[in-house]
Amino acid sequence: MTATAVRARGARQRGLWATTVGKKLLVAVTGLGWIGFVFVHMIGNLKLFMGPEGHGDSRPALNVYGEWLRDLGTPALPHSVLLWLLRFGLLTTFVVHVVLVAALSWRNRAARPQRYAKTAHVQANPASLMMKWGGVTILAFLLFHLAHFTWGVSPDIEFRRGDPYGNVLQAFYHRPWMGAIYLVAMIALAGHIYHGIYSTAQTLGINRARREQLIRRIATGTAALILGGNVLIIVGATLIKNPGY
Ligand code: HEM
Repeated sequence: MTATAVRARGARQRGLWATTVGKKLLVAVTGLGWIGFVFVHMIGNLKLFMGPEGHGDSRPALNVYGEWLRDLGTPALPHSVLLWLLRFGLLTTFVVHVVLVAALSWRNRAARPQRYAKTAHVQANPASLMMKWGGVTILAFLLFHLAHFTWGVSPDIEFRRGDPYGNVLQAFYHRPWMGAIYLVAMIALAGHIYHGIYSTAQTLGINRARREQLIRRIATGTAALILGGNVLIIVGATLIKNPGY
């Protein structure tokens, strides 16, 4: 058996993780999973515009939506169990995405001839640099974001559990610097989504010349939709203060 055949058999036995194309595929799938989450999350957050009595029952629509998420799966499952399973899935997907991206980049570096070691930064292309620093920005944003709205450990707002509507207004209303932090993160996210979709098409081998324009349109459309929706929420929360809140 040749060395290549031995390596291929070893890779098959160790699973998808072991091959470069397998790793790229998992990076793409986990990335697409997160795009799905970010889109659904944005649709949910747009309920901010329904105001403090969105469902006509004196509760903000955004809070009712939060409660609905916690009630998912009941009564078959106890309260919040399905939400925790979804959170676990989201976290696992995130970790797999980051670990595999790191593994692929180490592999690339190791494969580079020694003489390029000192000039590695000159060799890196702008898209991969943007993905790297965009990814770091998104990770920092996520920690900042969760500290504010999920863990409630950010000292600049009086966090109220079960009141995401009030928490979002506290964080953004008349605080343009908070909006600016979010805008930077949303732009980094849009760039990441655009390039991520484009690279996925490459990984899947569907980026033939005649499909190039279509793939770019899908990537641009998805990134623009998510950027536009989130910017609307940020601007809305910065400018609109609802009575009673
Ligand atoms: C305008 C932009 C955004 C706003 C106003 C916003 C608002 C919120 C709020 C209020 C919560 C707490 C929900 C609750 O407790 O019911 C939350 C949770 C969360 N957000 Fe965002 N979000 C935004 C963008 C994003 C983006 C771009 C991401 C990901 C890249 C993200 C990821 C998350 C995650 C992972 C959670 C925790 C979900 C959970 O554990 O249930 N958010 N967000």
